[in-house]
Amino acid sequence: MKRTRLCDILDIEYPIIQGGMTLIANAELAAAVSNAGGLGIIAANVGSARLSYTGNLAEALRQEIHLAQSLTDKPFGVNYPIGETERRELLEVAVAEKVKVVTTSAGSPSLYTKFFKDAGIKVLHVVASVRHAKKAEAEGVDAVIAEGYEAGGHNGLDELPTMVLLPQVVDAVFIPVVAAGGIADARGVVAALALGAEGVQMGTRFVATTECLAHPRFKEAVVRASDTDTVIWGRRLGPTRTLKNKKTFKILELEALEDSAGELQEVVGNEGTRQGHVEGDLENGMLDCGAVAGLVKDIISAGEVVRRIVAEVPYVLASLQQS
Ligand SMILES: Cc1cc2nc3c(=O)[nH]c(=O)nc-3n(C[C@H](O)[C@H](O)[C@H](O)COP(=O)(O)O)c2cc1C
Repeated sequence: MKRTRLCDILDIEYPIIQGGMTLIANAELAAAVSNAGGLGIIAANVGSARLSYTGNLAEALRQEIHLAQSLTDKPFGVNYPIGETERRELLEVAVAEKVKVVTTSAGSPSLYTKFFKDAGIKVLHVVASVRHAKKAEAEGVDAVIAEGYEAGGHNGLDELPTMVLLPQVVDAVFIPVVAAGGIADARGVVAALALGAEGVQMGTRFVATTECLAHPRFKEAVVRASDTDTVIWGRRLGPTRTLKNKKTFKILELEALEDSAGELQEVVGNEGTRQGHVEGDLENGMLDCGAVAGLVKDIISAGEVVRRIVAEVPYVLASLQQS
């Protein structure tokens, strides 16, 4: 598989990143991806999903990083969704524990980039438009992750799909661009590289892995999902793609009504993601999931996800040649 600038920047063998996933991107998952030659990412809040959690999020993250360090000697990263990471001490954990890479998302790159760069940490920032990619580049990030509207979890307001967002971002910046949203196999990886990406980030594919902390019912729901089983809600404030269920239908119903803000807030709540991702409540929980779930057919090890893609890329490329 092609070695890109991203491999050199991150000191990894293959330009494949496992995306940060709130509450469920754990040390075992990140280490498995990094051991297979990609870059694993720990979610900054994953410790709070552990049974051993005692209420100190920074200490929980420190323990998670130590666990990953005991499982791999390869680089791995931590994801900090900006809007949700107001506590400075959480950021300082990455610095103190000498994490090599962070990904930042869902907010302005001007907030944390300098802090991490000054500590010698590589910064990759998630963007959903050309304007935001240019801003991130100007702030000094090492690469941008261009995430299309197909992606699981929070999405950009402008509804740009990866196929059109990615080449426009590639044309607009000089730093490497990582493609995210809608990629789950070697075909997606080759397509992203053809559009100019120097790496890919996948989330949904990595939910359905043996190492992921997601509840088994969530993993099985991803495998069962077809092309039309995800939905975007929260279009007015923060669009989010999740599996369709009782909760999302109720949210969409309320969003269509005027004067429903109060009830809407109540239904969306704060605990839905924990209920879905960690407790496996398929009807009343939130289950962040990309439209690509229809391509995910099995629960396998995270290392196998990487190895399969690396093994299949040459066949996809060969199928494009004239015989
Ligand atoms: C279950 C789940 C949780 C996610 N949580 C986060 C998160 O906390 N922070 C973040 O930056 N991205 C998050 N994402 C987005 C992923 O990091 C990744 O960019 C995205 O999943 C790529 O698109 P895909 O789902 O089509 O693979 C999440 C995605 C999923 C599926």
